[in-house]
Amino acid sequence: MSGGQRRSVVLGTGSELPSKIITNHDLEKMVETSDEWITVRTGIKERRILEEGKGNADMAFHAATRALDDANLDATDLDAIIMGTVTADYPFPSSACVLEDMLGARGVFSFDVGAACSGFLNALSVADSFIRLGKIRNALVVGSDALSRLLNWQDRTTCILFGDGAGAVVLGASENGNGILSTKLRTDGSYAKTLYVPAGGSVKPANRKTVERNEHTITMNGKEVFKIAVRSMEDISREALEEAGVSIDEVSLVIPHQANRRIIVALAERLGISMDKVMVNLDKYGNTSAASIPVALDEAKRQGRIQKGNVVLLNAFGAGFAWGAAVIKF
Ligand code: UT7
Repeated sequence: MSGGQRRSVVLGTGSELPSKIITNHDLEKMVETSDEWITVRTGIKERRILEEGKGNADMAFHAATRALDDANLDATDLDAIIMGTVTADYPFPSSACVLEDMLGARGVFSFDVGAACSGFLNALSVADSFIRLGKIRNALVVGSDALSRLLNWQDRTTCILFGDGAGAVVLGASENGNGILSTKLRTDGSYAKTLYVPAGGSVKPANRKTVERNEHTITMNGKEVFKIAVRSMEDISREALEEAGVSIDEVSLVIPHQANRRIIVALAERLGISMDKVMVNLDKYGNTSAASIPVALDEAKRQGRIQKGNVVLLNAFGAGFAWGAAVIKF
């Protein structure tokens, strides 16, 4: 953790949540469920839904603008825009390119990273590598998803879990000893169909039949995801901490992917960290996929829960399966 080495520091953060709210009580009118079941099993009370006619980059634009303001930089200062998302505005081009134009960034390279709920950590890790290699100086890293667009609102096992949102982080190069100390990423593709969208890709392009059968919506074995998520996030968090050279006692805040409060509590127990050092905001937003970590990070910063010198542990798990962790010194 000594100075001198080129690292990526967090210069600014920002987030955007759509204004439309769907509460558990609203869902009670749509499917056979209850506020009590959803609260006890997940911790979620409400989620945000992107307004019709808007796309992923519209949310990302507001989050990115706030992150740039916070960093005191202009879009023209950026060298790269990397966005974690699985709900791009169009099949192609990437949402990062759509966002680049909205922001008025010029002379950059922009692309999306598809790693579902781990998308932000994957994007962060890629941007961090470019910065440490000296190829770029400033990067905008975004996690933005509108999973409401992939939900079957008649399927109570999935529609209660997810929401829309965007979070962004501006990274810059520094040699002051702070910044991203480590990132760790992992996948196991043998679980691809445990959490996926069967149609709408090249195997089964969307047609009338796939739409009638709701095959373009999320299909999940929740129990399987739950079981593997806790163990995987614990293991990869320990690996990231070891590489960073910090112990769990030196971590002032854990910002986990916001999927299920029970997953987060089990993870905190296994890591041996008390829940008052764990950021939880899924009660308000549900699982926002790639957005959940940068949204929670931005909220934690604005609440004064992250101070200069603090060490923060991020970790995520999701479809792929893809999971990861990062350790950042602020
Ligand atoms: O980023 C990764 C994304 N995915 C996840 O994080 C998912 C991880 N998994 C989970 O969060 C949990 O497995 C769920 C919240 C999805 C489900 O909780 P669970 O404790 O694993 O419940 P279950 O699937 O075992 O279902 C228990 C019962 C079932 O009824 P029976 O078979 O016991 O009669 C379900 O049919 O609850 C029923 N059920 C519901 N009841 C009311 C399932 N969904 C609902 C619902 N409302 N929304």
